[in-house]
Amino acid sequence: MSTLTLDYANCLTDRIGAQGIDARDLEEAGQRLAELTERLQKTAGTGWERWRMLPFDPVRSAHVRTVNSLAEKLRPVTDNLLVLGIGGSALGNIALHSALNPITYNLLRRERRAGPRLFVLDNVDPHLVSRTLRFIGDDDPGFQRTIVNVISKSGETAETAAQFMIVRSALKKALGDRHADHIVATTDPAHGTMRALCEAEGYTTLPVPEGVGGRFSVLSPVGLFSAAMCGIDIEQLLEGAAKMDVRCSNPEARSNPAAFLAWLLIELARRGKPNHVLMPYCNALYGLADWFRQLWAESLGKRFDLDGKEVFAGVTPIKSLGATDQHSQIQLYREGPNDKVIGFLEVESFDEDITIPADLDVDALRYLHGRSLAELLRAEKRATEYALLESQRPNFTIRFPRLDAFTVGQFIQLWEITTAYAGLLLNIDAYDQPAVETGKKATFGLMGRSGFEEWKNKVDRALQPTEHTV
Ligand code: PA5
Repeated sequence: MSTLTLDYANCLTDRIGAQGIDARDLEEAGQRLAELTERLQKTAGTGWERWRMLPFDPVRSAHVRTVNSLAEKLRPVTDNLLVLGIGGSALGNIALHSALNPITYNLLRRERRAGPRLFVLDNVDPHLVSRTLRFIGDDDPGFQRTIVNVISKSGETAETAAQFMIVRSALKKALGDRHADHIVATTDPAHGTMRALCEAEGYTTLPVPEGVGGRFSVLSPVGLFSAAMCGIDIEQLLEGAAKMDVRCSNPEARSNPAAFLAWLLIELARRGKPNHVLMPYCNALYGLADWFRQLWAESLGKRFDLDGKEVFAGVTPIKSLGATDQHSQIQLYREGPNDKVIGFLEVESFDEDITIPADLDVDALRYLHGRSLAELLRAEKRATEYALLESQRPNFTIRFPRLDAFTVGQFIQLWEITTAYAGLLLNIDAYDQPAVETGKKATFGLMGRSGFEEWKNKVDRALQPTEHTV
């Protein structure tokens, strides 16, 4: 069985001295973590922790059935899948696709791909949107073989709504009355602007399940539909998540990777290391580092704790890529402020490898003859681990025996449960995002949405032009 492991030896005092954590501190934390595990077992599946149930029946089989049957119907008639969404409604889709499909996926011929090309438009950058639409329009038969999956729980997110209005109009122009057959909306099953629109226009819909917030939704139809369309084994993804969930329900902290990881990171943050780097040594995992960034930042960055006390809690997630960023970030990580924990992601066995040929005979390069790229990447990671250790910088490794849907499912559930533990350790609400609202309302005001006029005035007053521009 392919099981993810967490190696934390480089966070302990016997390796990095006073910068680390004493193993005895963990023993002492054991009782507290056991209590938190018991608490999370009670709240799993309730309130905003209904994401915990996504990998388990009956929710799991209902989602797999619905998503797979829609994907099986649409895949043969689809060349382009256009996903519209932002934040939690897009990052999981990008992460799954980049982890489990080759980087060349969209460039492959139809018969060599597992499904349609995938475009996730997660911004309102006019270049991004117009160039993608132009590509599809120019690609005969273009919109005839395009499915648009608009993902928005509320339907009122300005970015997704604007994209949808543009894309729907392009579809309508190309397909006339049949355009609605090319739209799959993933949204709240009962409420909201998007739901009302779906009823009125007759779109096919998939649910954003109740009690599942955006950043915890990747294992729901939000992430599963584009994954299934592009050939990812969603059963294995959920199976991996379920296996990890069982491990993370263990009251014994040392055998519970989520409890342990959360404690380690929050404890190190308290001891002056509030910057948490995730550094995959595998390009395919970079999208998951981006997904983690949202999960960790939006869940834990909170002004008030659960008792209403102003605490300005939070840790800053950073993504980095090995070996590439050894030539960009490691100088800082080793000799800059000792305020980071570096988490490596390592794949033990790559599906493909390349041997470095021996036909360029230069003294200084001969050591590379006959070695493989995976060997070199592994050596680079180990060397960086050592270099950080030498500078007494805490670091840990999450090891993937191999990269597949089963291990990616484990990784996702691991970090989601770790976030739940971290929320409890910080005594904050990991499931709200009040600070995001101000920007949303101010945007509504600036774009002339009725009822938000005062927001425009506030922005204009605060940001009056001054002479402080050079
Ligand atoms: O994690 C979150 O809750 C957010 O990132 C949302 O997913 C994002 O704001 C999009 O919201 P919606 O799905 O309502 O369009």
